[in-house]
Amino acid sequence: MKLWEGRFEKPTAKSADLFNDSLPFDKKLWAVDITASVAHATMLGKCGIISDEECDKIVGGLKTIYGRIERGELEIVGAEDIHSFVENELVKEIGETGKKLHTARSRNDQVATDFRLYVRASFDKIKNSLGRLIRSLCDRANDGLKYIMPGYTHLRKAQPICAGHFFNAYSEMFLRDMERVTESRLRMNVMPLGSGALAGTSYPIDRNITAKLLGFDKPCGNSLDGVSDRDFVAEYLFDGSMILSHLSRLCEDIILYSTEEFGYFEISDEYSTGSSIMPQKKNPDIPELIRGKTGRVYGHLMAILTTIKAIPLAYNKDLQEDKEGLFDAEAQIIGCIDIMAELLRNISLKHANMKRAAESEFCCATDVADYLAKKGMPFRSAHAVTGKIVRWCIENKRTLQNMTAEEYKTFDPLFEEDICEVVKAWACAKARTSEGGASPVSVRQNLKTIKKRLDKLTETR
Ligand code: ARG
Repeated sequence: MKLWEGRFEKPTAKSADLFNDSLPFDKKLWAVDITASVAHATMLGKCGIISDEECDKIVGGLKTIYGRIERGELEIVGAEDIHSFVENELVKEIGETGKKLHTARSRNDQVATDFRLYVRASFDKIKNSLGRLIRSLCDRANDGLKYIMPGYTHLRKAQPICAGHFFNAYSEMFLRDMERVTESRLRMNVMPLGSGALAGTSYPIDRNITAKLLGFDKPCGNSLDGVSDRDFVAEYLFDGSMILSHLSRLCEDIILYSTEEFGYFEISDEYSTGSSIMPQKKNPDIPELIRGKTGRVYGHLMAILTTIKAIPLAYNKDLQEDKEGLFDAEAQIIGCIDIMAELLRNISLKHANMKRAAESEFCCATDVADYLAKKGMPFRSAHAVTGKIVRWCIENKRTLQNMTAEEYKTFDPLFEEDICEVVKAWACAKARTSEGGASPVSVRQNLKTIKKRLDKLTETR
């Protein structure tokens, strides 16, 4: 039965129903819809808008329906949307009294409230998943304290770094994501219920009662905005897009570093895939798929931004388009974070290759220039002298590590015996003790701060 059929002479066309109905996807909101209705009925009872007996009957009926759906005894079909479905079932369950539930309420404030409850819980799920991911990264950073690898700029070897530094960099990104999710959740935790269709209601409702029952910080301040604000959906999808962007960068690094050409990481067999034709292949499908799903989540963000951009006040049916993209994005975001947390535990670091790479291609050249500059030569001149040394090495097939102190001295008298120690990859990394730098000491400090921030964020809602 339609909630609004009284005004119509003819039933809607089948095709119009099919096009209009949201039940096939908004049935996902069944639990939050019932929860919000229980709170609404309780408030109506407390305010004397319905009697205590009516309130008890409605709440009892709603709880019965909840249990039936939960146990899989009641199939969610045969209505326009989840709100109509629950109301129809309630009337079937408790009779005429069920028809009082919708007093002082519209589906417009109802759906806005339901969806906020759903998205709020989803923010919490994302936060938990991010927490687990960061813990995986911290474990890898801790292993990496013992190892060295090249750091890159322009995807060319640049300077040696302690391997833990690499993992901490991603922890920093995901910590920002966790903060962003926490802030978004805080901003959206405002209750539209009581906004009615658009203008509020003439019944003596108490919105603070419902807000408290549903865990909202407060009722929204403007009913027109309350029923039509979907900023929180866009914000959720932006937060998710940023997470996917960070995951995608990490995937790209994992894919590159696990190639034969780089050879720094090895992905375990359990998280690798093969080729149907090339027997030798061991492919990184999991990080590739995460990288691929990034586009899909960005797409959902673009879709909602476009949907809401020209919605006149207040509610318009366009807003029904807020759900499917978010539901799909939610599955992708949480799925990607969780599999990455697992994947990270199943990557081994090939430290001999990493060390060899950190000493090749003149990664330590900056340290040669710094050596001269620290002895008084202006850095720009030291840079030029080191450039000549690099050129000489290339021409003579030599490295900064196998040059003798005597050979260094031919380029400048400031060089002494200790230069041969300075150009070892570990020495270069160890020297970068500035705050946030790549030395094991700095990386250990960074790791400590990351864990502290993570603990604090895990505690806060
Ligand atoms: N299915 C609708 C939605 O998701 C529920 C609200 C319907 N309101 C209305 N005025 N038709 O937005």
